Amino acid sequence: MISNLSKSSVKKTVFQAFDECRAKTLSLFQDIDQAKFSSQPHPDFSPVGWHLGHIAYIESLWILERSVGLPCFFPQYRKLFAADGLPKSQRVQLPNLEDILYYLDTVREKVLEYLGVADIEQQERIWRFLIQHESQHCEIISMVLELVKSQESGVKSQELKFISLDSELWTFDFTKLVEMVCIPGGEFEQGNNSIDALDNEQPIHKVYLDTYWIDRYPVTCGQYRSFMEAGGYQNPCWWSKAGWQWLNTEQVTQPFYWCGDAYGSKLRIWDNHPVCGVSWYEAQAYSRFIGKRLPTEAEWEKAASWDARASRRRTYPWGDEELTTPAQNCNCDRAIGKTTAVYAYPAGQSAYGLYDTLGNVWEWTDCWFDGYDGFQSYPYSGYSKVYFDQQHRVLKGGSWATRPWVLRSSFRNWYHPNVRQIFAGFRCAASEVSSSAREP
Ligand code: AVJ
Ligand code: FE
Repeated sequence: MISNLSKSSVKKTVFQAFDECRAKTLSLFQDIDQAKFSSQPHPDFSPVGWHLGHIAYIESLWILERSVGLPCFFPQYRKLFAADGLPKSQRVQLPNLEDILYYLDTVREKVLEYLGVADIEQQERIWRFLIQHESQHCEIISMVLELVKSQESGVKSQELKFISLDSELWTFDFTKLVEMVCIPGGEFEQGNNSIDALDNEQPIHKVYLDTYWIDRYPVTCGQYRSFMEAGGYQNPCWWSKAGWQWLNTEQVTQPFYWCGDAYGSKLRIWDNHPVCGVSWYEAQAYSRFIGKRLPTEAEWEKAASWDARASRRRTYPWGDEELTTPAQNCNCDRAIGKTTAVYAYPAGQSAYGLYDTLGNVWEWTDCWFDGYDGFQSYPYSGYSKVYFDQQHRVLKGGSWATRPWVLRSSFRNWYHPNVRQIFAGFRCAASEVSSSAREP
C-alpha cells in the first residue's frame, strides 16, 4: 500500500512535470505568426500548430474521456487532431493560435482539477505517458521550426548561432575522437520496467552479446567530411541498394543540417560536433566506408547503460540520479539550442566510458523497431505496435532538443530509414578491430 504521503508526492511530481513541460512547449510559439503556425515545410511532418492541438486532444482523450468518463471535449477538433483523423497534407487548415491555446488551457484546467481527486496509485502510468507524449511532440515542433526557418532564409538557424567559440574546448586532443571501446562478451539487461517506461521498453530481459567494439564518441562532422571528400556520395560501393536509390531520388549530397564548411576551411568550428541530419542510409554508408558497421540496439544500450562491475543496469549512463536541467552531463532540452562538441560532457560518460550517449544527437542503430518478448501495448496499439513493420529503424539517446522526460538509455525512438530532418547522427561499432578499420 502506498501511504497518503507518497500518494501526494506522486501528484506533486506529476503536477510539476505537467507544468514545466507545458511551459517549454508554449515558449516555442512565442514569435510565431499564423503563416508559420500552419505551414508544412515537409510532407512527412505536420505543421507546428497541429502538434499543439494534438497535445491537447491526447490529454483530453486519456484523462477526461478515458479516465474520468466525460464525453469528448471540443468534439469539433476530434477529427483534426486525432493521430488517425486526417492525412498530414490536410492538417494545414488550422484554428488560430489563440483558439488552440484556449483549447489547451481549458483541457488543462479540467485535467488538473481531476488530478486533485484522482486515484494516482491506479493511474500513475497514464499521467507519465502524457508527459512523455507532449515531450516528444515538443521535439518535433522544434524540428519543424528548423525546417520552416531554413526554408525562409535558406540558412539553417543553427549555423548562425555558431559564431561564438568555446575556446577551452579546443585544447582537446582530437586524435582521441577515433577511439573505440571494447565491450567484453557477456549478459546484460535490456529494457526498463519502471512506471514511466513506455510499452516498447518493457519487459527487461537478459541479452548475451559476444565481445564487440563501439565508438567512444558519435561520428563528428570532421570525420564525416572525410567521407564526403572521398566522394562518398558519388560512389555506390558504400551504399546499400535501397540507400543508393534513395540518394539518387532525393539528390542528396550532404547531411541535412550540414554547416561544416560555413566559415571556410580555416575555421571549421563544427568539426568536433556530431554530424546531424543524416538518414539511416547515410549512417550505414559512412560506417561501411570507415570499415565498421552500425551498432545493434542491444550493443548501443549495453555500452550506454550496463555497469559490468556492479552487474546492474543504470537508468542513465552516469547512474540513476535523476536528470536535472540545465543538465550538467548532457546537451538536452534546448538548453544550448544547438549541438555541442562530442567531448563536452565528461560527467555524462557511461560505465564503459562512452561520451554523449544521451543528448546532442539521436543515434541510428542497425535494428528494426520491434517489440521485446512479452510486449503488451500501452496505452493503445497505435503508439508502438503499428510500427513493428520492418520499415522503421531504432534511434537511441535523444538530441539537444529532447525533453528530460524521454531521456534515458532504454528509450526507443523510430523513423523510416530515409528520414533526415530529425536531429540524428550515429556512432559506429565493430565485431573485431581489424587493420581495415580506417583512421579518418
Ligand atoms: C516515437 C517520435 C516516432 O512522432 O510518431 C507521438 C512519438 N507517438 N505521438 C511519433 C509519438 C504518438 C512518435 N515517435
Ligand atoms: Fe502524438
